[in-house]
Amino acid sequence: MNPRIKSMAEYEAAYQQSVEQPEQFWAAMAHEFTWKKKWDKTLSWNFNEFDVKWFEGGQLNITENCLDRHLETRGDQTAIIWEPNDPTHTVRTLTYRELHREVCKAANMLKAQGVQKGDRVCIYLPMVPEAAVIMLACARIGAIHSIVFAGFSAQSLTDRLTDAECKIVITADGAFRGAKAIGLKEIVDEALLTSPTVTRVVVLQHTMTPVTMVEGRDIWWHEAVSTCSDVCEATVMDAEDMLFILYTSGSTGKPKGVVHTTAGYMVWAWYTFNNVFQYDPGDIYWCTADVGWITGHSYIVYGPLLSGATTLMFEGVPTYPDAGRFWQVIDKHKVNIFYTAPTAIRSLMAQGDEFVYPYSLESLKTLGSVGEPINEEAWQWYFDNVGKGKCWIVDTWWQTETGGIMISPLAHITPTKPTFATLPLPGVQLMLVDANGNELEGNNVEGNLCVKFPWPGMLRTTYGDHERCRMNYFATYSNLYFTGDGCRRDYDGYYRIIGRVDDVINVSGHRMGTAEVENAINEHPHVIESAVVGFPHPIKGQGIYAYVICDHMPDHADQRKREILEVVSKQIGPIAKPDKIQFVAGLPKTRSGKIMRRILRKIAEGETGNLGDTSTLLDPSVVESIKNGALS
Ligand code: WT7
Repeated sequence: MNPRIKSMAEYEAAYQQSVEQPEQFWAAMAHEFTWKKKWDKTLSWNFNEFDVKWFEGGQLNITENCLDRHLETRGDQTAIIWEPNDPTHTVRTLTYRELHREVCKAANMLKAQGVQKGDRVCIYLPMVPEAAVIMLACARIGAIHSIVFAGFSAQSLTDRLTDAECKIVITADGAFRGAKAIGLKEIVDEALLTSPTVTRVVVLQHTMTPVTMVEGRDIWWHEAVSTCSDVCEATVMDAEDMLFILYTSGSTGKPKGVVHTTAGYMVWAWYTFNNVFQYDPGDIYWCTADVGWITGHSYIVYGPLLSGATTLMFEGVPTYPDAGRFWQVIDKHKVNIFYTAPTAIRSLMAQGDEFVYPYSLESLKTLGSVGEPINEEAWQWYFDNVGKGKCWIVDTWWQTETGGIMISPLAHITPTKPTFATLPLPGVQLMLVDANGNELEGNNVEGNLCVKFPWPGMLRTTYGDHERCRMNYFATYSNLYFTGDGCRRDYDGYYRIIGRVDDVINVSGHRMGTAEVENAINEHPHVIESAVVGFPHPIKGQGIYAYVICDHMPDHADQRKREILEVVSKQIGPIAKPDKIQFVAGLPKTRSGKIMRRILRKIAEGETGNLGDTSTLLDPSVVESIKNGALS
C-alpha cells in the first residue's frame, strides 16, 4: 500500500486531482486502510458554521491500522527504538508484535480502572515508550487522550484537566532531563488538589524518585497491568469520533483544546508522513519532538506506526552529556531520517562545529525542520554540517490545528530553497489575503495565510466550545480557515512563512499567547498590569519581553524580577519565563484602553527611532519614558 508521489510530474498531477476531484482523491487514500465498515459520504463541509466531516458513516479503530494490520507482514520488525536520557543506560526496542501486546495490556488496564469509551484520559509522562503505549491503549478502547507536556506546571495541568473533565491521569514518578530528575508525580499531586474530576492516577515507575501514593486514588502501572490480558479487541469507532484533545495557545484567554477525530487524522498523518519524508522500508526515522506536542503525536507515534516505520524516541536533551548527543544518537542507531526544530539547530550551531565532527552521520539522507521559521544561516549549517551537503532538507509548515504537515518539500523530489517551506501538499488549497480579506493573486505577494478547502487532518472543534473555535479560525475571513501566520509567495510560487500576525509568540518552537503570559505575571501580588511582546532572539527565534507596572517602582528590581519568573514558572512552566522584564510607570494605550503593542514590539526590538504614529495615544509621554528605560 503506497500511493506515494515519486516525481514533480506526479506531484503536479496529484495536486490537480486533489483540487478537481477531492472526494475521489481522498477516498482512494482511505481505501488503503482497514475499516470495519466503509464510509457513506467522503466529505461534507461548511466553513462559516464550521462543520466538517470526513468519511462519515465509516467505522474503524486507528490502532488496528497502526498495529494489527502490520503483524502478519512485519510483526518482528522494530516499531519503536527508545534511546534513554543517559547514553550508558540500556536502549529498549519494541517490535510491532510486542507493541501490540503492550497496547492491549494497557488498554485492559484502563478498562479495569473504569475508563470507558468517550472518557478523557490525561497523559503526563516523560518520553518513554509507555507514552506511546498508553496513547494507543486509549485509542484501542475509544477513550480520548489529552497529553500535557511534562514541562507544564501544576496550574497548567489543572487547567487542562478541568477543561477536558479528565477522569484519570497517567504519569510517572519522575522524568530525567539531562543531569536533572524532575518529580512528575509531585506536580500531579499538586494539580489534583484543584482538579475535582480526577479519581484515579496510574504511576509509572521510572526515575525511582520517592512518591506519596494516595490510598484509593493512586496505583502503580506495573501492578495495574500485571494481571491484564494481552488480548484486547479494538472498540469500533465512528470516523468522526474524537481521537484526542491537545491544548494549544491562542491570542486570547486560556489555551484551547484542539480536537482531532479518528479517520481524517489517521489518513492525514499517514499520507503526509509518507510523502514528505519518503520513508522506505527499513529506514530508521527520528523525530526529536516531545509527545506532548502535536509533532510528537503525528510524527513520532501515529504517522510512522500507520506506515509500518521504525520510529526512534529520545528521552533526553540535545546537550546532555554534551552538545554532540544528537549526532552520537544518529550514528549509534544509523538514523536515515532526522526531524528537529530550528531552535535546536541554532543552539547546537552556537556550541561549535567540533561537536559534530567526531560523528560520520553517513546514514542520513533526509533532514526535517518544524515549528518556526528557519533562518538562512541555520538552514545552511544544517545542510553542510549535519547533511554533509548530500541530504534533502524538508522545511515543514503546519500547526496543532492542521493535524499534520501542510506546506513542505517532498524529500528528494521538490527542489528546495533555504527558508522556504516551498509548496502545499496535494489536498491543501492555500490562499493569501490582505487585511480586508481580498485574495492576493499571482506571485510575489505577501499576506495572511488561509486555507480555502477542508483537508482530512484539520481540527473539528475546540473542546467544549465550538463557537470559540469558529470565531478563532473561521470568523476573520468568510469561508476561509485563517492560520494566524503571515506568508510570502515568491516569484516561483514558493511559500515562505514569515511568522504569526496575531498575539501569539513562538519561543523555541513553543507556542505562547501573550495574554497567557501577562495573566501569569499579573498573579504577582505587587503587579498591577503587564504587556508582553516577542522580540527576535538568536537561538530561541523569539524571546519574551515583558513590560510590567508594579504598585510602586520596585526598590530591588532584580529580586522582583526573580519573583516574577517564579510566578510565571508556577502558572505556566519554565518555558514561558520572560527573557527581559522592564518595569514601567505606564503602558501606551489608546483612548479606548487598548495597549498599542506595535510600539512595545519596536522598543523590544531596539528600534526606538521610528515608532510610527503615536498621536492616538492617551498619553504619548509614556512612550518616551519606556524608551529611556528600555533594556538592551
Ligand atoms: C505555528 C504552529 C507544526 C508543529 C509544531 C508547532 C509556526 C510551524 C513552521 C515552519 C515557519 C512554522 C507557525 C505556526 N511554524 N512550522 N516550518 N516555518 N513557521 O505547532 O505549536 O501549533 O505552532 O508554528 O507560526 O502557526 P504549533
